[in-house]
Amino acid sequence: MYTGLKHFHSYVAYLVLLLLVIAIAHAVLSLVNKRSFTATSKKFTLFGLVSAHVQMLFGFFLYFTSPMGFSNLSGETMGNSLARLFALEHPLTMLLGIIVITIGYSKAKRTAEDQKKFKLIAWCYSIGLVLILARIPWMVWPS
Ligand code: HEM
Ligand code: HEM
Repeated sequence: MYTGLKHFHSYVAYLVLLLLVIAIAHAVLSLVNKRSFTATSKKFTLFGLVSAHVQMLFGFFLYFTSPMGFSNLSGETMGNSLARLFALEHPLTMLLGIIVITIGYSKAKRTAEDQKKFKLIAWCYSIGLVLILARIPWMVWPS
């Protein structure tokens, strides 16, 4: 169970990064070229969001099954940078990044003006991506 979840989490991470980059590139290019928000724009925006949500849900499961997750949370963990990354910094920063992405998606959905939609997606998805990149355990991934 743990090994399966860990592999799944590791593979979906590629998908999340790729889909977020595509959504951001599409929003920025559409802004620059003053394009309208099409069905394709909606798909790119939604796929980025859904991949992040799936990763978050399974990240929670992993957090409670991994020996590096919740069960390793203690005062001692705080003094070890690698243990602190897995038990605290990684989950919290990823969660924050996904919240910013979700706010961007939600606000863009409720906005009528196309250029405003692209601006919200470009900003919120980029901030979310930077947060995610900041706390990926690069020392073990990609392995
Ligand atoms: C976009 C969101 C996320 C991305 C891109 C991501 C990415 C990753 C990557 C690449 C690894 C290393 C996997 C490996 O060793 O091969 C990892 C490990 C881990 N992640 Fe995430 N993660 C995300 C969200 C979360 C969330 C929300 C949680 C928990 C609430 C979480 C909990 C964990 C845990 C506990 C590990 C360590 C597993 C272990 O080695 O035992 N992740 N994550
Ligand atoms: C811990 C689990 C999850 C939480 C807390 C969560 C939370 C949210 C929130 C707050 C929104 C924004 C709603 C809005 O204002 O439009 C949203 C949208 C969405 N989520 Fe999640 N989500 C979770 C898991 C998932 C999973 C596992 C999937 C897919 C398999 C998913 C798919 C979606 C989709 C498709 C939307 C967009 C809906 C729309 O267009 O309005 N979510 N989610």
